[in-house]
Amino acid sequence: MGKIIALAMPKGGVAKTTSAVNLSISLANKQKRVLLIDADPANQCATAFGLPDDPEIGTLFGVLNYSQSCEEAINTTENPYFDILPFKNISYEEELLLTDISFDNQLFNNLVKPFIGGYDFVLIDCPPTLVGMTANVLNIADSVLIPVKSSMFSISVLPKLIDRIEKIHKNGNPRLHIEGIFLTMHELNTRAAFEAKKELYKLFPNDMLTTAIPKNITAEEASFLHDPVIIVEPNAKASIAYNQLADELIEKNLSMHQDTFQSFADTESLDEL
Ligand SMILES: Nc1ncnc2c1ncn2[C@@H]1O[C@H](COP(=O)(O)OP(=O)(O)OP(=O)(O)O)[C@@H](O)[C@H]1O
Ligand SMILES: [Mg+2]
Repeated sequence: MGKIIALAMPKGGVAKTTSAVNLSISLANKQKRVLLIDADPANQCATAFGLPDDPEIGTLFGVLNYSQSCEEAINTTENPYFDILPFKNISYEEELLLTDISFDNQLFNNLVKPFIGGYDFVLIDCPPTLVGMTANVLNIADSVLIPVKSSMFSISVLPKLIDRIEKIHKNGNPRLHIEGIFLTMHELNTRAAFEAKKELYKLFPNDMLTTAIPKNITAEEASFLHDPVIIVEPNAKASIAYNQLADELIEKNLSMHQDTFQSFADTESLDEL
């Protein structure tokens, strides 16, 4: 079983989706098997990749309303390391249905988790809330990767998210932990960005990742070309930063796996005594 990482932050426009799509491709390019799940009814991972609004395409909504199994809904892509499960472009009536079904916090546990064990990384893009789909995702996730835009408004909602993660960790999903916090749309040489970084390191010294994603107009423009910036312009500043962030994630989880292997090895050698 690989690692299930939720990209969550109860604040809109902080680059959850941009980070989920670019990190997915970067990890896949490094030959990690990646599944990207869009848990946001806004369905913007599909927009980021220019996926057509085609009933033939498997969707998370199809899985959650029992019309498709997760196995048949997951879409392969031309990148052999990258699969995707978009949300679905839902109608008003479907959104009402979703409000009803998402009260069941075990939905993902029952309908999604049993089918995603074959990947190295499962990245799940969450909506900008803590209830509904996000609550469901946090029940099955191993960790939360938290993008924070370099602004005080963005930082001020972090304690609410951290508190939620701690409560879920204590009361239902003991695997859940913070993968890391990273800055997005970071502008070097501005007072606001400097203050944001200082504040974050003061509040969360152990959770900060070293990579910050710079504000980069090419990243914004890429969405009009229907592909993430890392595909459209691999040498753009944001693409280079997302590759660094992917390396940081791999490194972090590799050392975690090595610790696990080491403790297995220790156990075996103890058995031999
Ligand atoms: N590094 C960047 N440089 C410039 N623009 C960026 C960068 N990252 C993201 N953006 C832009 O910021 C906007 C918000 O990004 P995105 O949609 O990824 O945020 P989000 O957190 O997923 O939002 P929501 O909560 O609404 O789902 C988008 O227009 C995106 O193109
Ligand atoms: Mg989003």
